[in-house]
Amino acid sequence: MQDTSSNFLNLQNMNQAIIKAEYAVRGAMVLRAEEIKTKLALGQQIYPFDEVKECNIGNPQMLGQSPITFCRQVLSCLLSPELIETNIFPEGVRKRAKYYHENIKGNIGAYSQSPGYKFVRENVAKFIEKRDGGIPSNPEEIFLTEGASAGITMILSALLADKDCGIMLPLPQYPLYSATVALGRGKQVPYYLDEETGWQIKLPDLTQAYEEASKNGVKVRAIVVINPGNPTGQILEEDTMKEIVKFAYESGLCILADEVYQQNIWSETKKFVSFKKVVANMPEPYNKTPLFSFHSCSKGILGECGIRGGFLEIFNVDRGVDFQLKKLKTVSLCSNTVGQIMVDLLVNPPTEEENGKEVFEKYNQERDDILSSLKRKAKMVTKMMNSMKNVECQEVEGALYCFPKIKFSERAIQEAKQRNLAPDLFYCLQALEETGIVCVEGTGFGQKEGTYHLRTTILIRPDDKFEESLELFKKFNDNFHEKYR
Ligand SMILES: Cc1ncc(COP(=O)(O)O)c(C=O)c1O
Repeated sequence: MQDTSSNFLNLQNMNQAIIKAEYAVRGAMVLRAEEIKTKLALGQQIYPFDEVKECNIGNPQMLGQSPITFCRQVLSCLLSPELIETNIFPEGVRKRAKYYHENIKGNIGAYSQSPGYKFVRENVAKFIEKRDGGIPSNPEEIFLTEGASAGITMILSALLADKDCGIMLPLPQYPLYSATVALGRGKQVPYYLDEETGWQIKLPDLTQAYEEASKNGVKVRAIVVINPGNPTGQILEEDTMKEIVKFAYESGLCILADEVYQQNIWSETKKFVSFKKVVANMPEPYNKTPLFSFHSCSKGILGECGIRGGFLEIFNVDRGVDFQLKKLKTVSLCSNTVGQIMVDLLVNPPTEEENGKEVFEKYNQERDDILSSLKRKAKMVTKMMNSMKNVECQEVEGALYCFPKIKFSERAIQEAKQRNLAPDLFYCLQALEETGIVCVEGTGFGQKEGTYHLRTTILIRPDDKFEESLELFKKFNDNFHEKYR
């Protein structure tokens, strides 16, 4: 018989786009952190710390953020409906659970409609209308997705019609985008965020990136904007958003507005404004700019990353495309139903009227505790980072991260080179060995040539533990720069 084994899936014949795709947030730093964790678990006391702190990823519950009691109790009732009839949970919780139970016909284990439960999409539309000052939202233009990621992937796959199609991505960016564009065999068209002005978007940078790509034969199809920013933590000015919309319309681009951090606002002076609101309020013809916007249960106050709930709203999108997207969604049947209910809990928090004083007050107290702690830590990290040797950090205005710039001496750069590492990865690995703190090197997000950064989250709880970690980090940083002076 002929030897067919070389036809079996191997590194050479597999989809090369998978090999090309990179995802730094779970990359080299995490591999090393896992090794250290294993050694610590075996009782090996060879590190100057006894715990690895996973600040590499925006995963709030992993770092001690508690889930919101109301949400979990309601979900428990849906998974075990007999709880609705007992007195284990407050009446206000059971009332909400009953509402869901009736709407899903008692069957959380059945597939829902492919775009997601209709009643949840209706509630999402109401949430969007309220958030955006009454601008109408259509439940038929909302999809419930497995976190924001699945919605983003779906839209990118629709946009990347062939290998010449390109997507404008911010640099630094959240690596889901570069990885998904690579998987779709599309072209990344990076545009730089301006660090000196707090990572704002500058129109000339957009125009330059677009024109250069077009000159090279790239068919630019869309621009991704992350607001508030990951990894950079900025909130966009409304005037900048208007400029982006004009630019997008005039260049024939769709906007992908990643707004998963819309509830994580720490700036005293800036507020979150959605792209939907900005687009809808623009004059003709700019108010016709096609927009896809994304939200998630993973961030905000819920931090329910593992439950995988999110939604996508499409606006000004061609009806035929809309139909095809719905068809595409049917291929995977539906997103998980627990995640869909979590989306409803995101957009439809308890009220005193519906759920009673006790439930309402507990929810508010838990929400305020999470938000006020994050806000304190956003201020603390900006201040502490700026007090460190050779570190410069823009204000963390929103989201869950800071992205400080680190200046390395020629000696440090040479030392990294000898170890075949980028200088920022070398620095982050050293930090991990000495403090147990897992950051991600700026290289993983993209940065201007010759500049170096790191990303860390502001999620360690409680505040004093976070402060201690920052102090430890400061000590490491200052020693590092002293050593490689
Ligand atoms: C900017 C941004 N978009 C999307 C996501 C994906 O979130 P999820 O799929 O969990 O909703 C993340 C996760 O960290 C993110 O930071």
